[in-house]
Amino acid sequence: MDTGSGTPEERLVIFDTTLRDGEQSPGASMNLGQKLRVAHALNDLGVDVIEAGFAAASPGDLESLQAIARQVNGPLICSLARCTTGDIDAAWEALKDAPRRRIHVFLATSKIHREFKLRLAKQEILKRAAEGVARARERFDDVEFSPEDASRTEPEFLAEVLERAIEAGATTLNIPDTVGYALPSTYSNTLRYLRQNVRGIEKVVISVHCHDDLGLAVANSLAGVLEGARQVECTINGIGERAGNASLEEVVMALKTRHDVLHVTTGIRTDRLYPTSRLVAQVTGFPVPRNKAIVGLNAFAHESGIHQHGMISNRETYEIMRPEDVGFSQSSLVLGKHSGRHALKERLGTLGYDLDDKQLDAVFADFKSLADKKKEVFDTDLEALVLHGQVLHPRQRIWEIVALSTTSGTGTLPAASIALKDATGECHRQASSGDGPVDAVFKAIEGITGVQVRLRQFQVNSVTTGEDALGEVALEVEHETGIYRGRALSTDIIEGSAEAFLDVVNRILSRTDEPPKVKREAEAI
Ligand code: KIV
Ligand code: ZN
Repeated sequence: MDTGSGTPEERLVIFDTTLRDGEQSPGASMNLGQKLRVAHALNDLGVDVIEAGFAAASPGDLESLQAIARQVNGPLICSLARCTTGDIDAAWEALKDAPRRRIHVFLATSKIHREFKLRLAKQEILKRAAEGVARARERFDDVEFSPEDASRTEPEFLAEVLERAIEAGATTLNIPDTVGYALPSTYSNTLRYLRQNVRGIEKVVISVHCHDDLGLAVANSLAGVLEGARQVECTINGIGERAGNASLEEVVMALKTRHDVLHVTTGIRTDRLYPTSRLVAQVTGFPVPRNKAIVGLNAFAHESGIHQHGMISNRETYEIMRPEDVGFSQSSLVLGKHSGRHALKERLGTLGYDLDDKQLDAVFADFKSLADKKKEVFDTDLEALVLHGQVLHPRQRIWEIVALSTTSGTGTLPAASIALKDATGECHRQASSGDGPVDAVFKAIEGITGVQVRLRQFQVNSVTTGEDALGEVALEVEHETGIYRGRALSTDIIEGSAEAFLDVVNRILSRTDEPPKVKREAEAI
């Protein structure tokens, strides 16, 4: 890439596929509003390309691609497409309003995919790849081509397919390790072979796209960079099909921290990594493991006395990156119950959250009730209020909790008594017993509202630290009209469970949730 200063800089393209491959993780589907929020966050993070969906996969994908194409201005917005006219037309329909756009066409090339999935001979694959790229070039200037399952494709045939794609006008060639089978050394060999044997390869950008089935996605991606790849495809928190994709934050911080070896830079604003990771965890409902590299809560925690002593003398004894470099704010005590709206706004601004007046009002209300319950309010609490609270998840206020009490203990029947207010302000009461206090609460809410559901998932995660940490309760239920999710934030698990259950009930009653999404069909041409 030329910087305009006369010196060619080794700048790596970060291609984010959280909204396409990431969204293909079972259970990670996002609705339109959530996808838009993630796309804006990716823009703030500084990614170069946002693969925002697969236009032909569903009308919902097409609609969200269109919305992102119209509203997110900065990165190239990209849609995946098979090498068919229908898919390419759908991608064009989705992206024609984007100021900067790319199409990503793919076709499987490995023997096993050719024989068992596509039932196509090599000659037919070569023809379809070339025709697909050429058709894509009629509409798009920027065309990426992926030979799916490249790492298990015969190298000579792979080289032939890629040569055809270049001749047909591909501008980026991606080399997917679709099933996460490669090792760093085998992946390097493949890339080196292609660079030596594909005519015209020096004219295009080589991209890597690695899955994490053997836990090697990031290692393989970096091996690819060392072999000359100048685009890495990755996702926030490494979400994606099966074990996931290469994690964006790990790739970026490895490139930055080991620039001495890897010699490339990215346009990523690394201090946005942590907030973006939290946002994606929150909207997908996939929590980040505490020990996850770069963005896990323990990533910068030092437990052993020897380590702590070393850190105090010189942090570089045990720290190769600074927490602030990835936007990880230390849990410093910041605000108390007497703090005002202005102080809250300032602190949130420092944490990178620029809220409008209405949003600030909502966070301020949540902050005041939290400060009443909790002795100390930390940055992580404030972040939780923004990411998990009312601002991003306004509740449908059809039913509201007025009072709640539960009893449980050894030898007693768990019971709950609850009072709910309906939309007219009328109060309804019910007492129930259950297998535990939470079950009793759910039964009492079902009794009052008349909404019957089957609980599919119940998760409580601590989203901040300490004895009086804020916990997020996330529920997934099955109702006769579909699958619904609800969530709530509280320092009290029973109260949080009741609020999350009521959130689900209110969503069912107002039917605002997207209907459950059918998982995409495997490629079939
Ligand atoms: O893993 C894969 O092969 C893909 C392609 C569509 C690029 O996601
Ligand atoms: Zn993939």
